[in-house]
Formats: sequence, C-alpha cells, structure tokens
Amino acid sequence: MTTLDARRKAHGAKAPSLPPMSLYLHWPWCVRKCPYCDFNSHRAPAGLDEMRYVEAMLVDLAAWPEAAKRRPIETIFLGGGTPSLMSGEALERLLTGVRSIWPVTENAEITLEANPGTADEAKFERFRAAGVNRLSLGIQSFSDERLKRLGRIHDAAGARRAVAAAARVFENFNLDVMFALPGETLEMLRGEAREAADSAATHLSFYQLTIEEGTAFAKRPPSDLPDEDLAADMGELVERVLADAGFRRYEVSGYAKEGRRCRHNLNYWTYGDYVAAGAGAHGKVTLANPDGTFSVRREARFASPAKYLAAIESCGSGAETAFEVESEARPFEFMLNALRLAEGVPAELFEARTGVPLFVIELKLEELRASGLLVADPARIAPTEKGLLFLSDLQEAFLPEALAEFNGR
Ligand SMILES: C[S@@+](CC[C@H](N)C(=O)[O-])C[C@H]1O[C@@H](n2cnc3c(N)ncnc32)[C@H](O)[C@@H]1O
Ligand code: SF4
Repeated sequence: MTTLDARRKAHGAKAPSLPPMSLYLHWPWCVRKCPYCDFNSHRAPAGLDEMRYVEAMLVDLAAWPEAAKRRPIETIFLGGGTPSLMSGEALERLLTGVRSIWPVTENAEITLEANPGTADEAKFERFRAAGVNRLSLGIQSFSDERLKRLGRIHDAAGARRAVAAAARVFENFNLDVMFALPGETLEMLRGEAREAADSAATHLSFYQLTIEEGTAFAKRPPSDLPDEDLAADMGELVERVLADAGFRRYEVSGYAKEGRRCRHNLNYWTYGDYVAAGAGAHGKVTLANPDGTFSVRREARFASPAKYLAAIESCGSGAETAFEVESEARPFEFMLNALRLAEGVPAELFEARTGVPLFVIELKLEELRASGLLVADPARIAPTEKGLLFLSDLQEAFLPEALAEFNGR
C-alpha cells in the first residue's frame, strides 16, 4: 500500500466506484505518411492482410484482465492511421468480434476516423451498417493550396465530397481542421472556419499545426509558418467564428453543437477507463482491490505492427508494457486530462477517479484559484481563460515532485 492509500484509509475516504469503460482500436496504416504527422501510422504495404490484423486485435483484446471484461463498453473509437482504409467486411468482423468478447451498451457511441481520400458514400454506408454511428473526417483544410502543402492525398473538392457524403449517412460527425498552416492568413482561416461551421457537422476539432520531432516538417520546416502572435490570434478567431455558428468550445481543440460532445474523449478527459487493441495503443483500467482500495493499471501495445502481430501470434497478447500507476502519480494524470475541459470537472470527481483524497491537493487548488488560473468556485476544478493559456504550467503544478514540495513532505 502506498503512503497515499494509507492516508486515504486513515481519513475514511470513500472507496471509489469504477469509472465508465471505453475501447480504443488502432489501425496503423495510411495511403502515405503526411509530412507533419507523428502518429503511429505507416504507409500500407502492398497486399496487406487486414483480416490477420483484425483477428490479432481480437485475440489481444481478450487478453485484458477478466475483471475489466465484465464492465460494459460505452464508447468505441477506431482511430489511426486511417481506419477508413478497412474494408466493410473487416470492420464488421472487428465490431462483431468485440461484442463476443465484451459487453457493449446499446447506445454506445462508435466513432471511426476517415480520410476523405479513402472513402465514399457506399463505404460510409457499410461502416454504418457494421455499427459505426459517428464519423470523424480528417479534412484539415478546404483549400487546394494548403492541402498540397500538407501533403494530403485529397484536394478541396474531395474534402467537400466527403463532407456531403458524411452528412447523408451520419447524423453525428466531426471534422478535423488544422490552422496556423504554411502561408495561412487570418482571412483564409476565417473562410475555413466558416465553411466547417456551415457544414452539417455536429462537432469540430481545430488543431494548431505543431511541428513534431522526427517528421518531414521537422527536418525541413516550411518557411512561411505563422508566428506565435498570429497563431494566437488565429485560435481566438476560430473560437469566435464557431461560437457565432452555435459551436461551443468545451475542450482545448474541441467544439460541439448542443448535446454533441464526443463521449469517448470526454471519458479520457474525466480520467475514465479505456482498454485498447492495435499497434501502439494504450489503455488504462481501474481494478478494485479486496481491501477496498483500487489499482490503476496502464498497458501499452507494441508500436511496430510487425512486432505487435508477432507478440500476439506467439503469446496471445500485444502488450509490451504493463504497470500500476502509483497513487502519487494520479493527481497529475487526472489534471493532465481534466484541465483540458473548459468547464473542468466537479471537485468530487478527483477523489472518485484517483482514490486520492481531495485534501492532498486542497492547498494547491487554493493557491491556483488565488492566482487566477483556476475558477474560484470550490465545488469545481476548472481552468480560467488565463489558466487555459498557461495550461502546461497549470497541469505541472500537480506533478508528484511539485505537490510533495508544496505540501512540505
Ligand atoms: C489520426 S489523424 C485523423 C484521421 C486520418 N488519419 C486523417 O488524417 O485524415 C488525427 C488528426 O490529428 C491532427 N494532426 C495530426 N498531426 C498534427 C500536427 N502535427 N499538428 C496538428 N494537428 C495534427 C489532424 O487534424 C488529424 O486529422
Ligand atoms: S495525418 Fe492521418 S493520414 Fe496523414 S499520416 Fe497521419 S494518420 Fe495518416
């Protein structure tokens, strides 16, 4: 038992109930690699055996602890890479297989990420018939020029066709749009934001382009990237244009129409549980201990698709690492997620999800409220506008070393 578990018991903190369960499925292949992307994604090899990968994912999924497998899955997210490269048959087998291993709630949100260059309306229909009820389209831009600079496989007409097809097949869909792109001006971005907001999308994710280590853009950065000040103005512009069209910003990059927040991501951000299958996928599960405490277990799958397949086919699991998150590390993990939410979370959720009593961070919360980084309401843990601007500093205040020093232990 760790020090914090002992203190929790001594102070009679409630044994927490287990959080909602989600499932992340990772499809690691794309038509080709985009120059800005550092996701675990690879150019699909010729003659890829997709059914072999699907069957392996199902074996891998069955390898999660039995206690976790009894808890119904409330959301599923098929991410990548480019899961829209899957055939309808492969997706159907995957989702049927998931249901034979794990209970899935009747109203589960089931999202699939699609690249406009890989799917048409007929394919969207197949995906919907297989159980997908939410689509996330990687549009990035509605401009031929900027799509070209991003090395995308589709042009603006392809992006618009995909949005129209998504609107005919799905009631609920998201568009990913990137901003602060090479050569982009505020006026150009205004047009992008308006077009996204005027589409039938129910959810929009606006990501500021970041230059990630190890990518082609890191090796040869575009010379005409907007500077920091312009990028900040762009973020504000996006928020204003989307708000005028009825999209509320509820997370750093997430905007939703009423009732259309992404349930899957909300579960991550409220420190919920999620199991995972697929190369490089990570999961986190809370497991009750007989003494009334609980453990938080994290597992990561082999990132290389070849190693992932080999591990499953030889030992029945694709896990490369599995470890327990000590109580001391949970406050930071919790805040890393919860403080991304514009409205934050109820203060009581901290203890319910981490098993760490609120008093451990109470003084820190007070200090951050006094400095205007957290909202003053003691019933909530929520960033102010200023707090969102200095999000990393705010999150880092809950690192184990920072808390230990602060609490004078
Ligand atoms: C896994 S991809 C989405 C699905 C599909 N692979 C596609 O690109 O169409 C997730 C999203 O992350 C965003 N993204 C990826 N790399 C980024 C970067 N370096 N900076 C900002 N956003 C990025 C893109 O908007 C992308 O759509
Ligand atoms: S952005 Fe999407 S399509 Fe491009 S390489 Fe990354 S995962 Fe693949």
